[in-house]
Amino acid sequence: MKDGSTPPRRLTLAQAINVEDVRSIFARKVPTAVRDFIDGGGEDEVTVRRNRGAFEAIEFRNRPLTDASTRTLSTTLLGTPITAPLVLAPVGLASLAHPLGERAAAMAAASSGIVSTLSSSSCWSLEDVADAAPGAPKWFQLYVWRDRAISADVVARARAAGYTALVVTVDVPVGGRRERDLRNGFTIPPRPTWRHTGDVIRHLPWVARFAWDEMFGHGLTMGNFGGRTAVTQRLAFMDRVNSRFDPGMTWDDLEWLRSLWDGPMVIKGITNADAAREAVARGMDAVWVSNHGGRQLDGLPATIDVLPEIADAVDDRAEVYLDSGIRRGTDIVKALARGARVCMIGRPYVYGLAAGGQAGVEKVIELLVKELDTTLALLGCASVDRLDESWLRSAPARRLSAP
Ligand SMILES: Cc1cc2nc3c(=O)[nH]c(=O)nc-3n(C[C@H](O)[C@H](O)[C@H](O)COP(=O)(O)O)c2cc1C
Repeated sequence: MKDGSTPPRRLTLAQAINVEDVRSIFARKVPTAVRDFIDGGGEDEVTVRRNRGAFEAIEFRNRPLTDASTRTLSTTLLGTPITAPLVLAPVGLASLAHPLGERAAAMAAASSGIVSTLSSSSCWSLEDVADAAPGAPKWFQLYVWRDRAISADVVARARAAGYTALVVTVDVPVGGRRERDLRNGFTIPPRPTWRHTGDVIRHLPWVARFAWDEMFGHGLTMGNFGGRTAVTQRLAFMDRVNSRFDPGMTWDDLEWLRSLWDGPMVIKGITNADAAREAVARGMDAVWVSNHGGRQLDGLPATIDVLPEIADAVDDRAEVYLDSGIRRGTDIVKALARGARVCMIGRPYVYGLAAGGQAGVEKVIELLVKELDTTLALLGCASVDRLDESWLRSAPARRLSAP
């Protein structure tokens, strides 16, 4: 993503004018291994690049001299009104970016009038996060554990704490091979070795804050599963995932989860029409089209490319959402035009967290919403509800930066 201009070298959050600017602050502040953990993807990162290339390849079809002087960005999400078609995706271990992690993200979403999704792999517990943004609509994301009793217990806690929808992520039967993490020797909790000395020195403010938080604060814990006591062992991220999550989960297990949760259920990690149809048949209220931001199976298609076939297959029987690669307001407009009700962001708000905690997340949301509003005005479209394929050029465009 390039904005065509050169930002100041040591950009502040106030000077940031787009998500890439916020990313540059994040990249400056956090050590390389943390940056790579957040920015990286599976194996060759083909899907990470494809996500961006596919958005860039889509061209608009604007309607000049059409009055869009006032615009409506607000919509509803499973019946909940939101100010813009944007949601914070679940991101585990958000305290790596900022000690207040998931709490800061939930507060930013609440103050911006959008929904946030808490990862079950959060550092702060689901109760702590619910207390941080009381009354704001919040969703809870679940990875199904090998020990089903643990999953059932956390689902009951999420319901008791007031989370309104359960998001079940189905694209992590095992952890993807994130080669950046393997090369960096990235573990949870992080363990700097002599190899990392230069990096530690270059990022002393982050290291000092992290060390303080580990010793006296909340720390990088498994908030929902025993807190500090659960992170006694230092493990590679992938090994931690593989030792806990159930690789044998099947469609029938969705029905078991359905019996535990009486509210709306969302399935996250769908990238083809057959899986979307099955999800609807199994009673899912929404299909979240996602390739996990290219972090899991490398070689999956860009989500924006498969969205039309999935929207067709679902055929209004469930809501359809999209994430993976959203970096611009134009991306959100393209996804809505192709059939998504809302878009989710993962890394962009983590950049914001690292750049400025809650204020950083609010800044990212504000930038994307501003870009979305400007895009609607330039298209001549007065409301997000009016977006459909007719606002896009139907001929496939030449790929600009696809691999
Ligand atoms: C650091 C990081 C941690 C993530 N943790 C989770 C998680 O715990 N559960 C989950 O369903 N998805 C997780 N995701 C995936 C996001 O929910 C989302 O699908 C993805 O980030 C979207 O792509 P984007 O980062 O390009 O916006 C994570 C993503 C990142 C970057």
